[in-house]
Amino acid sequence: MSALTDYEGMLAAIKMGDEPPAEEPARQQWYMKKAGELVKEKSLSLGRPLRAMVKTFGCQMNERDSEKLRGILDAAGYELTEEEEADFVIYNTCTVRENANLKVYGRLGYLGGLKKKNPDMVIALCGCMMQEPEVVEKIRRSYSFVDLIFGTHNIYKFAELLVTALENDRMILDIWKDTDKIVEELPASRTYAFKSGVNIMFGCNNFCSYCIVPYVRGRERSRRPEDIIREIEGLVKDGVVEVMLLGQNVNSYGKNLPEPVTFARLLKQVEEIPGLERIRFMTSHPKDLSDELIEVMAESKKICPHLHLPLQSGSSRILKIMNRRYTKEQYLALTEKMREKMPDISLTTDIIVGFPGETEEDFQETLDVVRKVRYDSAFTFIYSRRTGTPAAVMENQVPEDVVKDRFDRLLALVQQIGKERSARFLGQTLPVLVEQVNSQDASLVTGRLASNLVVHFPGDASLIGKTVDVTLEECRGFYYMGYRAR
Ligand code: 5AD
Ligand code: SF4
Repeated sequence: MSALTDYEGMLAAIKMGDEPPAEEPARQQWYMKKAGELVKEKSLSLGRPLRAMVKTFGCQMNERDSEKLRGILDAAGYELTEEEEADFVIYNTCTVRENANLKVYGRLGYLGGLKKKNPDMVIALCGCMMQEPEVVEKIRRSYSFVDLIFGTHNIYKFAELLVTALENDRMILDIWKDTDKIVEELPASRTYAFKSGVNIMFGCNNFCSYCIVPYVRGRERSRRPEDIIREIEGLVKDGVVEVMLLGQNVNSYGKNLPEPVTFARLLKQVEEIPGLERIRFMTSHPKDLSDELIEVMAESKKICPHLHLPLQSGSSRILKIMNRRYTKEQYLALTEKMREKMPDISLTTDIIVGFPGETEEDFQETLDVVRKVRYDSAFTFIYSRRTGTPAAVMENQVPEDVVKDRFDRLLALVQQIGKERSARFLGQTLPVLVEQVNSQDASLVTGRLASNLVVHFPGDASLIGKTVDVTLEECRGFYYMGYRAR
């Protein structure tokens, strides 16, 4: 973990008056220092350091939010751990599909047991699931040992909420319906020293009819380009060589800023940052993907030749009911255009099977797109009914056995094509950014090609964060074995 050491200096300089300042981020910095005092006091009385763990469910946005939670816990003096036997445990939850919720309830029962053994333990829940009133009600009723609950809009206030939870015995609840606020300049503790997610926007305005995200993440808000650039410059100074620009729909970045900017223009600015080697981004909505973006990608030396472009369904009829605002033909035309300009680009996608009313013919259209586009990989999901979304109340929900059968057929096709696509680099020598020592064989290291494919090759920890040329000797399905080129 890489902590932000200069943050310690900043906190040391804060004078603790009786009242916290009203403006941000000064207010949160004041609370971080306050939390530090409380943690120190407790740690002295117990005669040991206090430990905190953050567990993430769901997407890369949540991963990034968790790094911010860890940054604040670190600044408050907790030792960060991966284990739930800790003094402070927070689950950053996801609710995009039902099974994400079920996992959280399962783990919560276990946490309750741990708290019986360590009554001082503080248990907190945050993230998308907490934006659903039924969920919060259920936790109040059945998991009353939880100390702190907050949602997605006020995560920047975590230091303040932490202090409130440490100073009170009752359950602290703070959930906002929406926000137009973006607070800059809070610390983050990164999982990887050499790569980082960077939020460029929050929320979603698309309201795809199956999706709960717009309800739990609120309206689209873009960060100002100068704030994003400053953050990335700081990350690069701190050793980062790869950034992943994050947003639910990066292609509509900047539309609502006082001085509108396109995503493509932002990318051009990011490209100019010296020392930055690789730029990735996610997620793109096909309806907003511009020619300008394709051009910028094609000309760029740093933007990875990889595009994650969720299809969801190949049937124009279903796409319309999904409120996706493109047809099968438009989607195919878009991917053809990408391949024309960037023949080697990797395309990946998300597909939902069993959306209400999906027929075998609709499903065949999905298989047809998969065959035509030839994705490098695809995340396939069984449609999950989310209360509050328009699709949840649609009639003709597809029977489970039919969905399962379609899911299996889709997965088989996606995997077969993915394997064929992955093999296209066999024998080539390509740059690999090394991420870690191989978890199974310590004589190997593991890294990624620009296309995002994983490569294992002989090496040691000194290579982590470096980009080296590797000859791809053997393709084993979705990854390569290789050796360092001389
Ligand atoms: N059921 C199944 N999959 C869903 N996704 C979003 N909502 C649902 C749902 N209700 C998938 C979409 C999206 C990905 C992040 O999750 O494919 O692109
Ligand atoms: Fe959900 Fe659609 Fe927004 Fe993606 S674009 S988060 S699928 S509503």
